[in-house]
Amino acid sequence: MAVEAGVLLYWLHIICSGVFADVWKVHVESEMEALVSSCVVLPCSFKYPAQQQPSDRIRAMWHMKDNWDDIIFHKDHTRVKDSFKGRTKLLGSLGGSNCSLEIDEVRNHDNGPYCFRVELETSQKDKYSFVDNCVSVKMIEQATKPELQAEQSVQEGQPAVFKCSVRHTCPSYQPTLTWSHSGKIITSYKDIGHGNWEAESLLTFTPTKEDDHSSVTCTVKHHGNVKGEKTATHAIFVNEQANHSHIFIPIISGLGGALFVGLLCSFIVIRYRKRIADLQSRNDIVFRSGVGSSGPGDREERQVHDSFKCVIMQQTSTKQIL
Ligand SMILES: *[C@@H]1O[C@H](CO)[C@@H](O)[C@H](O)[C@H]1NC(C)=O
Repeated sequence: MAVEAGVLLYWLHIICSGVFADVWKVHVESEMEALVSSCVVLPCSFKYPAQQQPSDRIRAMWHMKDNWDDIIFHKDHTRVKDSFKGRTKLLGSLGGSNCSLEIDEVRNHDNGPYCFRVELETSQKDKYSFVDNCVSVKMIEQATKPELQAEQSVQEGQPAVFKCSVRHTCPSYQPTLTWSHSGKIITSYKDIGHGNWEAESLLTFTPTKEDDHSSVTCTVKHHGNVKGEKTATHAIFVNEQANHSHIFIPIISGLGGALFVGLLCSFIVIRYRKRIADLQSRNDIVFRSGVGSSGPGDREERQVHDSFKCVIMQQTSTKQIL
């Protein structure tokens, strides 16, 4: 039994030392951008060859790569280089292996490179400076303009969406995005990787005729950047609401007119036919009576009488139809 336990312990020791063996590791972004006078957060996470320690047993610091004594962050403020005093702080939890550093009120020459150093307050007092993975900071003097995306022509009476976004590296104090037009505003911030963030604002409003040929402006204000307000403008053209009266009215009036003309024509044709029939039958009478006047006979007289009767009958039948 004791032998078995001993073997188990031996294997556990092998496995554990394999897991912890020589794993001082840090994960940082080798190059970051920072807006002068704003803040920058250098993302950082680390590993050490020991059991997970609570935050209060881990001493963390950041120092310059070329001079390890130039400390830019230390829990003990007196050890921090004067030009960085009060401007640096650790974000996240050391116990959770998070060594992210915030540098505020970024100055022109805060380029680094900066390296993370960890000291474990374990029995052996392990210490490590990650000088092979340091962070250089590139200064941005001018705040970047926001990007405004929207349709150039919008539809009157239909909600239109305008999107304004800006990239930055100061997630502790997100930039503010404001609009020149009222409407429903939704703001969101997302981590787009490598220490970069994107602040986005969506404006939704329903354009009216008054908005035609106007413009919508988005203004960004970065943390600490007094003169750094930047705007992006977008011209809009409002399409009038779909109104089909200009199509329907001519069609209806055209059809109505055609119907009226058609009815008038058929009326005239009927009248005209009646007249023709009338005239033809009268001509008949005149012709036959003319013939009859030279030498009227009983037979001819009856014929005339018959055709006259026929005309009268025709007239009555036409009247009935009408
Ligand atoms: C470290 O902490 C920062 C600040 O709280 C957080 O944004 C980041 O996601 C954390 N990183 C990790 C790897 O958990």
